[in-house]
Amino acid sequence: MSTISTVQDETAQDRTAQDGTAQDGTAAVVDDAAVEAEMGKIVTELGAALGVLLTALGTRSGLWAALADAGPLTDREVAAKVRVHPALVREWLRAQAAGGYLEYDAAGETFTLPAPVAAAIHYGPGGALVDACATMLSSMGEGFGAFSEAFTSGRGFGWHQRTAEHWHGTDAFTQIVLPDELIGATISAMPETVEALSHGGTVVDVGCGYGFPTTAIAKLYPAAQVLGIDYHDASIAHAREQAGPDNVRFEVAAAAELPVSDYSLITFFDSLHDIGDPLGALVRARSAVAASGSVLLFEPLGADDVQDNLTPTGRMFYAVSTLACTPNAVSQESATSSEPLGGQAGEKKLRALAADAGFTRVRRLEVPAPLNLVLELRP
Ligand SMILES: C[S@@+](CC[C@H](N)C(=O)[O-])C[C@H]1O[C@@H](n2cnc3c(N)ncnc32)[C@H](O)[C@@H]1O
Repeated sequence: MSTISTVQDETAQDRTAQDGTAQDGTAAVVDDAAVEAEMGKIVTELGAALGVLLTALGTRSGLWAALADAGPLTDREVAAKVRVHPALVREWLRAQAAGGYLEYDAAGETFTLPAPVAAAIHYGPGGALVDACATMLSSMGEGFGAFSEAFTSGRGFGWHQRTAEHWHGTDAFTQIVLPDELIGATISAMPETVEALSHGGTVVDVGCGYGFPTTAIAKLYPAAQVLGIDYHDASIAHAREQAGPDNVRFEVAAAAELPVSDYSLITFFDSLHDIGDPLGALVRARSAVAASGSVLLFEPLGADDVQDNLTPTGRMFYAVSTLACTPNAVSQESATSSEPLGGQAGEKKLRALAADAGFTRVRRLEVPAPLNLVLELRP
């Protein structure tokens, strides 16, 4: 046993409680091995955090493609297939082998990309997901000084205070996790909405960002009129620049300014928890939706109880929530706004919020959305 403390003396040790916690602000007596294990965890975390950038570089430079289905290759053989400098290829391969993504054969000095890793990263969505996150991270890195100052001083940090990489990365992430087929399958699970949108009908997508899901709805239902709104003018400008069908348009408006207009469908794609007053936004949606209409909520998948979210996926969502979504919500707080939802509110809390906003029917839609909890709210 050793005392981890800036001042180690008998007195400090005497003051340390039996259960190992100090009662006067001095550090507790802890086991050396336990401290070493924690340091090991920190080193692992640093490697993993930097590994996100390495994996994105592998996608961008073609290193994963060079390794896929190629069998064991030396670093020189891999380098011959890409334009990356051979010394950097060598270091990248070794880092990815240390990270468990590649198998290393010491005898032949070769690296092999195992089939399941290739399936996840190269052929599947894993590489693109990491790439989208690396784009967002580069914005967080660039703006980290201003963000950490706001965080430290108790303020929030608005979506508009990010650099464009953050918005681009979010959109790239959306394009992977909310493909057109998923949007189509979700609306198909709401028969009254299908009926309304097939013969006209109106849709508003709140917090639409660059408008990828907004445009998907417009393409799927050409008879409907679809509006995307977002408080962030640069996102709306970008959405307007994209080629889209004639039945979609975009306007700068906050959720609180949602026009009251008997909408057939009001959607929130991963935006409710970004909004400073989530209850106010749902109250507004309740008054703006037609009596026969629906509100569709896509929120990050989360369990009702915190302890059930303490998983690798939950960790990722809580991190994104702390670094991106909740700071925006906090930046919009006013004296009358409801509490920010957080990134994993869970079904129970969302149902309670919907009830408080005046919705009487709430249904969970079982659609193939691996990262989302999907609810239909009806008046
Ligand atoms: C995580 S992004 C989701 C964007 C888009 N729905 C998607 O799926 O790609 C959250 C969006 O909510 C918008 N937002 C945040 N607060 C808002 C508010 N009070 N009213 C309207 N939009 C808001 C942000 O500008 C951002 O575009």
